[in-house]
Amino acid sequence: MPNDRPDPAERTRLIGRLPTRSLRSIRAKMTLLVLLLVSGTIVVSYAITLRIMNDHLREEIVKRAESLSRSIASAAGYNLILQDLLALDNMVYKIKDSNPDITSIAILGPDKKAIVHSDAERAGTVVEPAGEGLIIRGTDGTRIREIGSPGRTSFAVESPIVFTGKGLGSVVLNVDWSVLSAARKDARRKLLVFFGLMLILGTVISIGLSSSLTRPVKALASGVEELKRGQKSKPLRVYSADELGRLTASFNEMSELITGQREKLGQYAHELEEAYISTVRVLAAAIEARDQYTLGHSTRVSQYAVELARELGLSPEKVEEIEIACLFHDVGKIKIPDSILQKPGSLDAREFAEMKRHPEYGAEILSKALSLFKYIPSVRHHHEWYDGNGYPDGLSQESIPDEAAIISLADAYDAMTSNRPYREALTKEHALGIIKESAGKQFHPEFARVFLELNEKQGPTVAVVVEQGMVS
Ligand SMILES: [Fe+2]
Repeated sequence: MPNDRPDPAERTRLIGRLPTRSLRSIRAKMTLLVLLLVSGTIVVSYAITLRIMNDHLREEIVKRAESLSRSIASAAGYNLILQDLLALDNMVYKIKDSNPDITSIAILGPDKKAIVHSDAERAGTVVEPAGEGLIIRGTDGTRIREIGSPGRTSFAVESPIVFTGKGLGSVVLNVDWSVLSAARKDARRKLLVFFGLMLILGTVISIGLSSSLTRPVKALASGVEELKRGQKSKPLRVYSADELGRLTASFNEMSELITGQREKLGQYAHELEEAYISTVRVLAAAIEARDQYTLGHSTRVSQYAVELARELGLSPEKVEEIEIACLFHDVGKIKIPDSILQKPGSLDAREFAEMKRHPEYGAEILSKALSLFKYIPSVRHHHEWYDGNGYPDGLSQESIPDEAAIISLADAYDAMTSNRPYREALTKEHALGIIKESAGKQFHPEFARVFLELNEKQGPTVAVVVEQGMVS
């Protein structure tokens, strides 16, 4: 049966290589995305709020100055009619003292000369608000201009003084924008604290959100990995009734189905393998039955090989594999004609060459079933010699599979200690002596040493003659 399963490299090429890092970083990516969105929103909100607050502060300062200017203008009209300059002076100084952002207050006559000025030295001089930038032009004639361009360090408010419908002059207030800078600074600090706290809260929420969103995906990914490795996946917890929840529920059903089918398949495969092994055992038994001299040979080889394999410390699985391989190590002899197999005397060169082909025939028989592939090395190479003088491939030393080298020892020992048509059985001591001599030539030296140690503990057996050390 041809092995049409693609090897792992081919499978990777066919299904594509999945970068495992992407699975691990999905949570990080989501956290980063949510964090970017939250940060972006917070920064934009901060900028907009700061702008609105700036405009509001500016508007409030201007309104306050405008209101103050109108109040002074209103109060100044009466005092101008009365020519009460002392009262005007008093009012101007008091207002300036209580408003540090006001740099100067001047009450001008119709000729723009200062009747009263907070800066006493400028009283009597012409005062004209400098600057071009007109901010507001009130309906009652109040004008506001920014001063100090570029930089706009202050602004001036000029309100007409009208009393009983008659224009008596105007009030000019110069206000320093530094009060706005201070207010801005304070507002910015408070906003920074507020939005900083929002950012921290947003970060915590985004991590929590990403974690809760990716938890089912992570569980699904690990479930798929377990399934891929052939492990039985526990049912995954369904966190929600949305698409992810339905996907998780479907995965649980699919996992159960696959696990069940896999177990059944495993059982079928095991039964099939057992059936193949039984068939080959029957074949091997049939060969042994053709020749009374080899009856029970495979079973004895199996016992010797298992003892040796255990003593060498091979795994239980390997020992079992060797035990089964021994049972049909000579199955290839089914193709050897009786005239050769049962010939009472020595074989001629042609017959011996044909006999030497039985390991190849055995490997060919086993290659018909996939489940028997693993026994092919044992069967094909059980007549290889450590020094390279064996057959069919002339392998030597460590290139000979261990299981084949073990079977070779057990096979030769049983052959030597059994009666054959062309000779009688050797004594156990004689056979072990030959094995000792052949260690490093026909047999693996270390395996031979362990085999000798194992068998020398047991008592002598019956037997007489041997033809050569490589019989089987
Ligand atoms: Fe053999």
